[in-house]
Amino acid sequence: MRMVDIIIKKRSGLELTKEEIDFVINGFTNSSIPDYQMSSLAMAIVFNGMNKKEIGYLTNAMLYSGDTISLKGIEGIKVDKHSTGGVGDKTSLVLGPLVASCGVKLAKMSGRGLGHTGGTLDKLESIPGLTISIEKEDFIKQVNDIGIAIVGQTGTLVPADKKLYALRDVTGTVESIPLISSSIMSKKLASGSDTILLDVKFGSGAFMKTLDDARELARTMVDIGDELKRDTRAILTDMNEPLGLAIGNSLEVIEAINTLNGNGPKDLVELCTKAGAIMLMQAKKVETLEEGMKLITSKIESKEALDKLAQMVKAQGGDESYIYDPSKFEKAKYEYVVRSSKEGYVKEINALEIGESAMRLGAGRATKEDTIDLSAGIILNKKVGSHVEENEELCRVFTNKEDVSSVLEDIKESFKLSEEKVDVGPIIYEIIQ
Ligand code: URA
Repeated sequence: MRMVDIIIKKRSGLELTKEEIDFVINGFTNSSIPDYQMSSLAMAIVFNGMNKKEIGYLTNAMLYSGDTISLKGIEGIKVDKHSTGGVGDKTSLVLGPLVASCGVKLAKMSGRGLGHTGGTLDKLESIPGLTISIEKEDFIKQVNDIGIAIVGQTGTLVPADKKLYALRDVTGTVESIPLISSSIMSKKLASGSDTILLDVKFGSGAFMKTLDDARELARTMVDIGDELKRDTRAILTDMNEPLGLAIGNSLEVIEAINTLNGNGPKDLVELCTKAGAIMLMQAKKVETLEEGMKLITSKIESKEALDKLAQMVKAQGGDESYIYDPSKFEKAKYEYVVRSSKEGYVKEINALEIGESAMRLGAGRATKEDTIDLSAGIILNKKVGSHVEENEELCRVFTNKEDVSSVLEDIKESFKLSEEKVDVGPIIYEIIQ
């Protein structure tokens, strides 16, 4: 078999066989297939797509390119969730403790932020002392003892995706439903949970710009999960503006803590309550969405979910006193206020632009090697639909960088105002199962 023939076959829009896909993934993982041939094939897939059968073969080949994790040592149904990435997306930090406080086990492997999107691991590391590197036995023990652990992915899990994602990132081949769905699902399936909830974002701050594309990606991933007998469901959620009010690592942890204290922003609370209820249904804790939402809400009111977050932080070596007193988080040196130059209703806060601005303030990485400033970021004072007076505060900016005047200008430009009232849509548009 020759890689060049496989590239030409896909370039011509033909279906690849299981043997051909296995050959590609094995060869790329062991470096017998060079980056230039793999990127050429990735581009052919971007243009010509893959059918359901090919996507299944690709996911399977990636899934078994390295180790897989068995969570058999953990009692009960193990749930997992994954977000396709967005701006201000601190959902895991809220949802994890919420479902764990309902008695459901969450053994989660998360990622780091890249580009305009943040990552759960970076956010967690803004809690002093907390480690995301835990030996497998300790990981299993922690989930058995307290019901939750959120850790980094081990180096040997899905090595094919690690290599391929890095290559796609620099060859313009990220935005492809077959490549995204196989990338996400191979990692989720390798990490061993019984159920998977996918939060598929659409809008300016997401990979999928439209609801239709998000639906297609969600359907593809749910079908892959079903095929492999994992209860997989998806929610389609709006990422046309940042989620919640906080963007930036420690700022988002503080917002997650506030949410578990009963003071969360409306969109984040709605998302976590419904997504949590779906996860409880997947774990067979409740039968209906309403029942699940009631249980989730009760765990916010009783502060049991907040205590669960503190337990997790302590178990992973972090200082849990920060959870009960978020004023302890280190603050950035400089704080600026961005004001509106006119009156109106907010019709857009471009999530992609806000994410990129937060990155330039120090909150994100332009390349994998960059270090990040955990205290940098933005706190929105207005959301889509809000009324704004001339000169009123739109948001507050936190950074340790000296001159950020051009970033402040860009942040202001990311807010688009209208003279007419603006209707606000729901945060979850659809549930796919
Ligand atoms: N997230 C992933 O893990 N993989 C992709 O391809 C895109 C988003």
